[in-house]
Formats: sequence, C-alpha cells, structure tokens
Amino acid sequence: MSVPAWRRSIEVLIDSAALQARIAALGAQITADYAGRAICVVGVLKGSFVFLADLIRHIDVPVQIEFIGISSYGDATKSSGIVQITRDLQHSIVDRDVLLVEDIVDSGLSMAYLLNNFATRRPRSLKVCTLLEKPANAQVKVPLDYVGFQIADRFVVGYGLDASGFCRNLPYIGLFSADADAASFTGGV
Ligand code: IMP
Ligand code: MG
Repeated sequence: MSVPAWRRSIEVLIDSAALQARIAALGAQITADYAGRAICVVGVLKGSFVFLADLIRHIDVPVQIEFIGISSYGDATKSSGIVQITRDLQHSIVDRDVLLVEDIVDSGLSMAYLLNNFATRRPRSLKVCTLLEKPANAQVKVPLDYVGFQIADRFVVGYGLDASGFCRNLPYIGLFSADADAASFTGGV
C-alpha cells in the first residue's frame, strides 16, 4: 500500500496502540487520585482536543468539560512566551477541582502563563495533564502532575498536534522532518 504524498516525510514516533495504552493508564491514575470527586477538565485548544476526547473516556469520576483557546506568538515551531487568550472559559472555576489538559509542554512558557492565570480564578485545586513533555527544552519549571510521554527535542505532529494547522488528524505521533513543509499538504494527492 502506498503512503499518500502528504505524510511521506512523517515518521511514526509513538504509534496508536502505545498512545491508547498510556492514556488508559493516565485515566486510571486520575480516577484513583480524585476518588469520586467531580472535576472540571479544561482542554487547551486546539492541540489537546484529540487527547482529551480519548482521556476522558478513561476517567471514572463526574466530569465537566471546558475549553480555553490560547495562541502564543512566535515562529511556526518556537514559542515566544507571549500568550494571548483567544477563547475564554464559559463557566466559572471558583472552588472547582480543575484538570488542565495540554498536548505538549515544550518551553513551558504557555503552561506557566495558564497556571498563573488560572490561580487568580480561585479553583479548589489545579492540576496539569500533558500528553507530551520535551524536558530538554524547558525554560521555566512548571509542575506537571500527569505526563504521557517524555520526548526528545524534535518537532512532532499528529494526534492533535499540528504543523501550520495540518496533521492534527494523524492517529499517531509523528516526527516532522525538516524538509517537509506546509506546501506538501496543499500540493495534492
Ligand atoms: P511552550 O509554550 O513552548 O511549552 O509551547 C507549548 C505549545 O507549543 C504547545 O501547546 C504546542 O501548541 C506548541 N508546540 C510545542 N512543541 C510542538 C511540537 O513539537 N509540535 C507541535 N506543536 C508544538
Ligand atoms: Mg498547545
């Protein structure tokens, strides 16, 4: 079977079975830790939506879902740390047990911003679950309560993560090689 042109330069780093097994374990750990308490799961848009959808089906406590949209200025592959909220929560998180769900913590600057911002909203508790962490690239120390996988400092795509808005639909985490660019996604067959 031939690989379509748009994903020819993407190499599988974490396959779908490995993702699902780890996410089931994270869900079990979260279920045990919250011990029946209701939680508010906040997905950081857009990257976390695929992970969040799978994760919550492994969490066996009462769950409500909120989303927050952020964008950080910078070039396509590096965070500047200057974060803008592009879509805010719909409901208050005062006195709620909040679990922030991210796709990846790279420099940590986006998560540091979110944690500071959320602390001012007076939740009862605030924890972070990220699918991926790139420890080599950390510029600030952020407390990560649940981490799916630690990866090397390489640009990855798929399972919600994008390159120029593309690749979120891949069912695995792939390594995006330097010679691939957005043109290969719009170029056709
Ligand atoms: P940080 O502020 O440097 O931690 O960056 C976090 C955000 O940058 C993530 O939520 C992603 O949106 C994006 N990002 C960082 N590394 C990657 C990557 O390897 N692939 C896709 N997006 C990434
Ligand atoms: Mg993100």
